[in-house]
Amino acid sequence: MTRKILVTSALPYANGSIHLGHMLEHIQTDIWTRFQKMSGHQCISVCADDTHGTPIMLRAQKEGISPEAFIAATREEHMSDFVDFLVDYDNYHSTHSDENRELSELIYTRLDQAGHIAKRTISQLFDPEKEMFLPDRFVKGECPKCGTADQNGDNCESCGATYTPTELKNPKSVVSGATPVLKDSEHFFFKLTNFEAMLKSWTRGDHVQQQIANKLDEWFDAGLEEWDISRDAPYFGFKIPGTEDKYFYVWVDAPIGYMASFKNLCDKTPGLEFDEFWQADSNAEVHHFIGKDIVYFHTLFWPAMLDGAGFRKPTKVHAHGFLMVNGTKMSKSRGTFIKARTYLNHLDPEYLRYYFLAKLSSRVDDLDLNLDDFVSRVNADLVNKYVNIASRCASFITKRFDGQLSSDVAAHPLVLECQQAAATIAEHFEQKEFGRAVRDIMALADKANKYVDEQEPWVKIKNPDSAAEVQTISTVALNVFKILTVYLKPAIPTIAAKVESFFNIEPLTWQDSQTLLQGHTINKFKPMIKRIESEQINAMIEDSKEQQAPVAELAEPLKDEISFDDFNKIDLRIAKIVNAEHVEGADKLLKLQLDLGGVTKQVFAGIKSAYQPEQLIGKLTVMVANLAPRKMRFGMSEGMVLAAGPGGKDLWVLHPDDGAEPGMRVK
Ligand code: 2FM
Ligand code: ZN
Repeated sequence: MTRKILVTSALPYANGSIHLGHMLEHIQTDIWTRFQKMSGHQCISVCADDTHGTPIMLRAQKEGISPEAFIAATREEHMSDFVDFLVDYDNYHSTHSDENRELSELIYTRLDQAGHIAKRTISQLFDPEKEMFLPDRFVKGECPKCGTADQNGDNCESCGATYTPTELKNPKSVVSGATPVLKDSEHFFFKLTNFEAMLKSWTRGDHVQQQIANKLDEWFDAGLEEWDISRDAPYFGFKIPGTEDKYFYVWVDAPIGYMASFKNLCDKTPGLEFDEFWQADSNAEVHHFIGKDIVYFHTLFWPAMLDGAGFRKPTKVHAHGFLMVNGTKMSKSRGTFIKARTYLNHLDPEYLRYYFLAKLSSRVDDLDLNLDDFVSRVNADLVNKYVNIASRCASFITKRFDGQLSSDVAAHPLVLECQQAAATIAEHFEQKEFGRAVRDIMALADKANKYVDEQEPWVKIKNPDSAAEVQTISTVALNVFKILTVYLKPAIPTIAAKVESFFNIEPLTWQDSQTLLQGHTINKFKPMIKRIESEQINAMIEDSKEQQAPVAELAEPLKDEISFDDFNKIDLRIAKIVNAEHVEGADKLLKLQLDLGGVTKQVFAGIKSAYQPEQLIGKLTVMVANLAPRKMRFGMSEGMVLAAGPGGKDLWVLHPDDGAEPGMRVK
């Protein structure tokens, strides 16, 4: 039975480059899609850039261009990254499109008419200078729990507390630096709670992985809440129908972007019907591939929105884990935050596609790209095992048999075994158990190489009586190679195309795993893949490091970094120099008496090169007031004086009449 399948990857935000973390998902999606297409199903994959929201609006402003121009440029970049990684979307659209506006308005209007939208006034932080409401991540301030400065509007990195931005102490707008004020405005809410029963039964109906179903149970236990779907102007997005200054929150029109991209494709593809895939009783399948961080949106809000607006719900939401590199989070300083383009500048996309194939499963676990393992795995499997089967046999056929394969391999046990593996391997692909598929495929490749080792065609070819046997051995091996190419083709389509032209055959389908090349004339074998050299990896890492803002080299390197808490321990005070005198026997030191506003401390300071003692009396300075007293050769020193300047004569303490008072804490 031919299935009708629509596949999507999460829509990348239009304000950043595609990196290998994105590629994990898009490659997974592409492999699954190519497998379905090869199997003869009508499988369509669509994606788009996710273009709306405050960060994109502000980023465009910063670059001095319109958001439309900004997102258009990003989309071009994203599309060429995907094409060059052989990720073959049938359509790559934008959420800032007419189709998406129309569908968003339609879905919203239907939800509103069905009573699923609530309106109420809420109070939020507002930047009075920029005249805009501030999303959580655009407010910083002191943590309401532990007081650590410079914390985000939603959680504290120091103590881990979560809170709302209105709870921050001394909040500041990240956009303008102004102190935000509280301001009321009416917001629109999607009543997710209306869908609780439907969602509970949907999430238990095999539409999500087991690990996700467990997570959903926790969310149901915690209780569903209404979802704030409106944002006030200024905002880059779609205006909510019937309002003048309210916009859909970016996460409303983002998933609708899946439909919009498909709609856009339907409009340019005769015979492709939008309704067939999206009407409530559609018998087509819709599969969303996403990262584990956006499961809530895709398994609660999204099916509820679709259901409430009278559309079908997803057949399956497939969540994957995060990409790690060398066992840890991708890191800019280590050069493991690798952009798609940087990878492509150094390495063949099929190396990574194969590596992800070998490591992906149907689970939501994180996947580690260990770069040493990557090099050895790709070289061992693709070069030494798979392509090797062909490269060691092809020349016998070309040189001794004029390119013609024998006609007697149909019943060969190795060939039969490879053919019979098709159903199991197909099931692995269907279930996204790509790693299992690779294990089966490489086990067959091992058997093929062992067969050639044992048969020793390079020895037999020397005996004219064994010529026919060498033709058979080579034909068996080459047929195995062809069958394995069918199985690997979803991951390595360009290599597969080279194999097709080597065999002089039409593009391979899954069904071709069951057909044999006998009495067929093949072309001369040409190398199909190069080994990865570790220098290529090193160069890619170096390039990834270079993409950061250049760090100026200091002649004297910085000491070890200290935490904010360490810094906070230093009590800096304004001190008045009430007495200063030479120290007998010291070249650099002056003995100072410092008034902290009632308490006087004695400090030996190395500032003799710049000041005569009498010049200093009455001046202010900044002192480290809580330094433990230190016994020096000339007496006790009870603090440290801070002075600035290149040294020698040019070393400054504060001028006396600049408004500072002794004892004041320096901030
Ligand atoms: O998390 C993200 O990168 C979002 N841009 C994904 C959106 S997926 C869909 F809903 F559009
Ligand atoms: Zn805190």
